[in-house]
Amino acid sequence: MLDLDSPLAMDVRIGMTRYPKRLPPRWLYDETGSRLFDEITRLPEYYPTEAERHILREHAAEIVHLSGATTVVELGSGTSDKTTTLLDAFAAQQSLRAFVPVDVSVEVLNEATHRLRARYPWVDVTPVVADFTESLPIPVGGTRLVAFLGGTLGNFYPDERRLFLEHLARATTSGDYILLGTDIVKSADRLIAAYADEAGVTERFILNVLNVINNELDARFEPGTFQYIPIWDAPNTRMDLRLRSLCDQQVPIPGARVTASFSEGEEIRVEISTKFRITDVAEECAAVGLAPIRTFTDPAGDFALTLVRHA
Ligand code: SAH
Ligand code: TRP
Repeated sequence: MLDLDSPLAMDVRIGMTRYPKRLPPRWLYDETGSRLFDEITRLPEYYPTEAERHILREHAAEIVHLSGATTVVELGSGTSDKTTTLLDAFAAQQSLRAFVPVDVSVEVLNEATHRLRARYPWVDVTPVVADFTESLPIPVGGTRLVAFLGGTLGNFYPDERRLFLEHLARATTSGDYILLGTDIVKSADRLIAAYADEAGVTERFILNVLNVINNELDARFEPGTFQYIPIWDAPNTRMDLRLRSLCDQQVPIPGARVTASFSEGEEIRVEISTKFRITDVAEECAAVGLAPIRTFTDPAGDFALTLVRHA
């Protein structure tokens, strides 16, 4: 049975009837999308994962010490692969009691939970399936560290980002910490290469959103009639990842009770990935009342981890 009021149906109905057309990035992450993303993190061109892992290796002990956290909540946790670097440092101090990975992708979350329970048998690992734009499931008690890694903060548009930071400030209390991983502005060549990899994995990842809509809403998108377009939007310092229709076409989407009409060359905006200056994130946090504690970076200055405190 198709649910015309499901979150996906509503997002598709709104996104396919507005101009420019747009789809929220959370729908990229069905099981196939999550596998493709995991592949992206191992691509030679995709530098952010290794850069962030490097920072975590160098500074995890300091983050543990500064935060004194007993509970770690990870938003958009995915495989939580890099997070084990941080959790290992907590384990070394024997200070961690609970870990709460939060993601919309159930299969990946379950796999991660199995691995984490085996690795940290004394930690209470409680996975939560939730959309972090709708709720921030931060458990009560202890000192909390909320980790939001992988540059996912940069996938929000500026107004959404501000709202999200406000929600984070409201969902935490005095003494809690937040750790934000964000990508840094660099040469257009390297940025474009990171999102237009030789092997075409990123292209498959972005095009997969059309399969998700086909599978869930009985739609009749033909992915072969769309081209992946990664654009470096210099004035807004962000990658803008779009799908361009190669012809005039009408795509029936029964599960959302709409037909999407495309003219040749018309685009769907699927995802942005904002790149920041090193001090931007601390400033944006301060603007919502969160106190910047430290910003860590890798030797090449490719990526940043910003630790802030709920004052
Ligand atoms: N933290 C991991 C994964 C980043 S990819 C890393 O650093 O590599 C983004 C992750 O956020 C994916 O696992 C995706 O399933 C999840 N995600 C995307 N939108 C979400 C939303 N609105 N609510 C919860 N999780 C979301
Ligand atoms: N947060 C990641 C980023 O902005 C998500 C991501 C990685 C991504 N590769 C992607 C999103 C390719 C879309 C396409 O880098």
